[in-house]
Amino acid sequence: MDIAQLRREYTKTRLSKKSVNQDPIEQFNLWINDAIKADCLDPTSMTISTVSKENTPSSRVVLLKGVENRQFIFYTNYNSRKGGHLSKNPNISALFFWPELERQVIIEGTVLKSSPEQSNAYFKTRPWKSRIGAIISPQSQPIESRNVIKKAFVLEAAKHIGGSIPRPGHWGGYQITPNRIEFWQGRSNRLHDRVLFNKNDDSTWDISRLAP
Ligand SMILES: Cc1cc2nc3c(=O)[nH]c(=O)nc-3n(C[C@H](O)[C@H](O)[C@H](O)COP(=O)(O)O)c2cc1C
Repeated sequence: MDIAQLRREYTKTRLSKKSVNQDPIEQFNLWINDAIKADCLDPTSMTISTVSKENTPSSRVVLLKGVENRQFIFYTNYNSRKGGHLSKNPNISALFFWPELERQVIIEGTVLKSSPEQSNAYFKTRPWKSRIGAIISPQSQPIESRNVIKKAFVLEAAKHIGGSIPRPGHWGGYQITPNRIEFWQGRSNRLHDRVLFNKNDDSTWDISRLAP
């Protein structure tokens, strides 16, 4: 198959500085709701990029778990590779791609850890087995085999039958405070619409159109 010949036209709709909500958080909420309503697969999945202390970038998918107080929240293992990066460099980018809607959103900002109370509250809502998984998985570390994890899971699960499962300290939320948000709507002939929000020091936003 000739990958270079794979392409499609984007023709669904348009976006402009006038039509966009003047508050980028509201605009994001509109678009993620559109993605949910349109039955996009994994509409809350976002590719987050972090930077190591050697300045090398890396990316992976996580799930957005809420937009609260104008911050974007996700949960992970603080000792993971991404957690190590964020402990030294709080800069992050989060990218949503909703192909069914021909839309992309790119958020850039900085993270803070969620409060223990916020992480506890979310941890409680996770399925029982996911909570056990969060306790026993040394995320991003090399392991001998899948069996290592399966055994640890069974042993840990046995400890909690009928009881509550406290959140492990190594697992919790990060809150992204955005300073730049770009909304991208695919258009025909690759002349896409791009509307950029740049945050000023006084927390107001400048809105501009970018060339495709
Ligand atoms: C659809 C999807 C959703 C995911 N959601 C999460 C998540 O919410 N939190 C998480 O830690 N990892 C999630 N992962 C796994 C991450 O992509 C990644 O493998 C893991 O966090 C380890 O990344 P790291 O080694 O770069 O720290 C998800 C993966 C996919 C494909």
